[in-house]
Order: sequence, then structure tokens, then C-alpha cells
Amino acid sequence: MSDLPTETSTDPRGLRGDAPLLDAWLRFYEHRPTPFTIPGHKQRTDLVGDVVAGDAPLYGGLDTMKLTAGVLTEAEARAARLWGADVCRFSTGGATHANQAVALALAGDGDRVVVSRTLHRSLLLGLVLAGTTPVWVRPEVDPATGLPLGVAPENVRRALTENPDAAAVFVGDPSYVGTVGDVAGLADAAHEHGVPLVVDAAWAAHFGFHPDLPRHPLQLGADVMVTSAHKTLPAWSQAALVLARTDRIDVARLDAGVEATATTSPAGAILASIDAARALLERDGPVLLGQAIAATRVARDRLRAVGGLSVLDGPAVDPLKLTLVLAGTGADGNAVERDLLAAGLPIESADRDVLVAVVSLADTEASLGKLATLIADSIERHREAPRPAVRPAAYGVDPVTVVTPREAFFAAAETVSIDQAVGRTCAELVAPYPPGIPVLAPGEAITVDAIAALDQARASGVRIAYAADPSLATLRVTSD
Ligand SMILES: Cc1ncc(COP(=O)(O)O)c(C=O)c1O
Repeated sequence: MSDLPTETSTDPRGLRGDAPLLDAWLRFYEHRPTPFTIPGHKQRTDLVGDVVAGDAPLYGGLDTMKLTAGVLTEAEARAARLWGADVCRFSTGGATHANQAVALALAGDGDRVVVSRTLHRSLLLGLVLAGTTPVWVRPEVDPATGLPLGVAPENVRRALTENPDAAAVFVGDPSYVGTVGDVAGLADAAHEHGVPLVVDAAWAAHFGFHPDLPRHPLQLGADVMVTSAHKTLPAWSQAALVLARTDRIDVARLDAGVEATATTSPAGAILASIDAARALLERDGPVLLGQAIAATRVARDRLRAVGGLSVLDGPAVDPLKLTLVLAGTGADGNAVERDLLAAGLPIESADRDVLVAVVSLADTEASLGKLATLIADSIERHREAPRPAVRPAAYGVDPVTVVTPREAFFAAAETVSIDQAVGRTCAELVAPYPPGIPVLAPGEAITVDAIAALDQARASGVRIAYAADPSLATLRVTSD
């Protein structure tokens, strides 16, 4: 058995007393058992190296195979208390797993659900798994930037009035670019019709923990909130939470949904990092978030001074999401991204017009200052005549649903050239990535507009993901 590097085996902020899973992870390495369990590396780092360092399993690692210590249950209960939920489940499968678990929990075969069409592909595939029929609602779009705002509660109210049998409402909030909608209004709209509101808040694990941040969905009346701990908290990749109030949710069914789609070998380090991040947020969140918010404000001010650059800001924007619209500078965001990559500062998303940088409580004034200076200098180097902002493809989709996503997903399918595809029913999911919002979903008519939107996305430097043929020379369509 090898030694873990010292810094990974310590508890620099003294969180273990309030974090049962973190404590269990630390104890595993302090006691150094000789495991006759999975994983097969048996904690040896002399075989494939540190790539497996710290990989203690939940079963037979942080807890016994029979889960006699109950550390996961205790850690989930602490998270539920912190977020004001009745139940919490940790996930090692990201918000992807969490969304799919919730989709399975709330509706099934043929049930209608009201869903924002700017849903992440994980939820769309959740609808495929559950066999539900989506009733789409669309977010408002800011005409100045082409970026999405929230879904208006009136749209949800209308959809629920027209579909009184709908079983739930699913929205994503905040949006990928950090805009925040009227979640309280959406909760009211859903509850007036007696159905739960589920918010995919993948980007908002930090919301509600500082007075300058928006409140989180449960504080605003939502019934379920899904969030990625790994996106904005100091947790391992894939770490996510499902948090729910149980007035309108069947807990047994939620648990069944979580279990149905989860691995049976969860990584203890991922789970322990959720617990540690929760303990840190609970104790030091306001201070650490306050520092990050102040540092981001300085970076925003620096960037606002760049002529023609539009910096998303205001009460309906996540203070920790730096979203920049470059159209007024004429600079190409792909060129700016290349400069940032060359300098060792990758950002979350870049296309011709929009840059998105994710900030978390791990960022500092120094890291943000460097980012702002590099972006400002790069824009000056690539500055050209201003151009109109173009609405990103994912936010302008006006889908024409022919059959349910599930029906199309499992239908006999064939591959046709793109010019023969118009008017056919799409059998696959096609999404510019990031943000991973489908422009074409299984079951939707392939329209000239959808193809034009995908072409526009590709031309602006966005990767087209999930399609069988990413060049889009061909598309998979259902057989007639
Ligand atoms: C809105 C939204 N939901 C869910 C997900 C999936 O999250 P994860 O990567 O944690 O599976 C993403 C990922 O970017 C997302 O943007």
C-alpha cells in the first residue's frame, strides 16, 4: 500500500468533525486496511500511479459492505438540513444522473410534463427513460444579447391550463450563461395546478449562501432541486445532489429513481467531497463566497471598461458567472479563447460572440485579475468593426414535436444526407456543446431553421455534440 500525498490525506480546515463521510474517508487512509474488495488497484499507487490515489469506495471503504456505520445517510441528512430540504441524495453521476432519477420519479409512460425547451440533454434523456411526453415552454430571450432569461410563469400557467393532466414542471435555472428567472413565480404557477416544480440548478450549488447571491430554488418554493456540487463548490468531478421537499413528491419513488440509474460502486472520494463541500459552505460559505463575489466585481469593472464589450450583470445574473458578449468589440471569441488557452487559463465556453467563465469560491482576486487582464488585452489584439449579436442556436429553438422522445429514440432509424433530412423526424439528439441544449431532439421534425441554427453554431466555432455524424453531413431519422 502506498502513501497518499500528504496534502490529500489531511483536513486543512478542520472539517471532519462536522463531515461524517469526509471523516470516514480520512479514517480509511489512517487505518490503511488490506482490502479484499473492489477496486482492483487495492490502494497501490506503484502500479498505475497517483491516478488512483484517494479512490476509496463507499462499500467496504468509507463504510462496511453492509453500510453498518450509516455515514452516507448521516451526510445526506446534514445536506438536507442545510438546504432546507426534507430529503437529500448524493450522486456520483453528476446532475445528469440526478435529472434522470427525478424524471423517473415524477412521471411515466405517456404522462405529460411541462418542460423548458432549454433543458440540458441529460433531462431530455430522462424523458426518454421515463417515457414522458414533454409540453415545451420557452424562456424569454434578451433581444440585446440573444441570451436566455428565465421561463415566464405565465407561460407555465398557460401550459398547465392547456394540459391539466400534466404531472410536473421542469425548468433549468439559472441558465448556462448565469441569468436567473422568477423561480418563486414558477413555483406558484406549478402549485396552483397542484404539481411539483423541479429546478435543474446544476450551476447554482452556491445560491442561497450569501446575501448578494440569489436564493436557491427550495428557498423560493421549488419542490425539487438538482445541483452539481462539482460545478461551483470545491467537490470532485461528478459530485451532485438531489434535494427535495416531500409535500408533492413520493420519497420512495425518488429513491427508486436514484437507485435505478446509479452505479452500484460509488466512489467514496466523490461522496466525501460533497460532504466536505457542504461542511465548508455551512461554516465558511458566506466569507469565502463574499471574497469571490468581491473579486468578480473587480474583474467585471475591469472588463466593463473594454470598449464595446457587454458584461452580463445585475440582480438577475449569478454574480459568480462571468458572461461576456463580444459582438460590440468585433473580436472573435474563439481567438480570445486561444489566447487564454495559450496562457493556461481555460474558460468554460467560447464561441464567436460569447465567452463564459465559471468562478467559484476557490477563485481569488489574483486569478480573476489575471483573467480580466488577459481577456481585455486579447480583445484589443483581435478588435474589429462591431457586428450585431447573434442569438446562440440553442436559445432560439422552436420545436415541432412529431412523436415523443422515447418513441423516436427506440424507432427504426436510418441515416440520410442533410438535404434529404428536412421534413423527416429526427431520431437522435443534436446539441451544440457547450451548453448541451438540444437544437434537435428525438421525435422532432427536422426543419430548415433547425439546420440553419446548427450551421450557425458550427460556423461560430461551437462543437456539435452527440450526433452520430458530428460533421452534420448526415442525420439519423426515423424510418417511414
Ligand atoms: C443545466 C445543466 N443540467 C445538468 C447538467 C449535467 O451536469 P453534470 O455534468 O454534473 O452531469 C449540465 C452540465 O453542464 C447543465 O448545464
